[in-house]
Amino acid sequence: MNLVIADDYDGMSLAAADWISSFVRLKPDATIALTTGNTPIGCYRELSRKVSHGEISFRNASFICTEEYLGVSPSDKVSLYGWLKRSFMSPCSVHDQQVCRMEGESAEPQQACEQFSRHIHRLGGLDLVIEGIGRNGHIGFNEPGSFVSSRARIVELAAITQQSNFHYWNEEVPRYGLTIGMAELLESRHILLLASGEDKAIALQLALEGISTEAVPASLLQNHSNLTVIVDQAAASRLRARERDER
Ligand code: PGA
Repeated sequence: MNLVIADDYDGMSLAAADWISSFVRLKPDATIALTTGNTPIGCYRELSRKVSHGEISFRNASFICTEEYLGVSPSDKVSLYGWLKRSFMSPCSVHDQQVCRMEGESAEPQQACEQFSRHIHRLGGLDLVIEGIGRNGHIGFNEPGSFVSSRARIVELAAITQQSNFHYWNEEVPRYGLTIGMAELLESRHILLLASGEDKAIALQLALEGISTEAVPASLLQNHSNLTVIVDQAAASRLRARERDER
């Protein structure tokens, strides 16, 4: 594992954007799974700055949006794909055709999940997954108890996830979601995990230094051979091993 601890949220965002830029320069046609949530917003903002200055381009890359709420279409206020579009795709000149989303509005959502998995397979698997971590150690919407072998599927969101997602819009979010599976995440050739803030410190400590267990899905990433973790000091405050890379 490569651990980078930045001073604060902005430092984490800049470090993550630099890391992603280097990755995409080496592999412009990468297939990248992107998460939503507050954590990557600053990183996406910095990436859009790099795109507008011609420092990088996502023209040849393909993207996967890793989660959506059940019963929600892209035009819905609480759509996570809509969020990704506003925070990353539009500012970074990435078009809809480049992005595979989870079809929350599908009349056959389980089939939509299976199609999503097949799409990743057809693309040759993921080159990079960019994820945040939930306060309960979830990854995507893989809540505690998710099997290591799980694939894209419908899940019931944990109460803590529903509560924290309420604050995104000041509106209740659906109780069920569609998520990329743990197996698909772990099969990615590289994983970039981001975390910011003291409220992530316990989850991060359990994920990186606790036992690897399905009770803390993020801890399953420990077994991955190309895991990079970029966090800020507040999120890292409970880590025993702090290989500090101050920024
Ligand atoms: P956040 O969500 O980035 O808004 O903290 C992360 C997550 O729940 O996975």
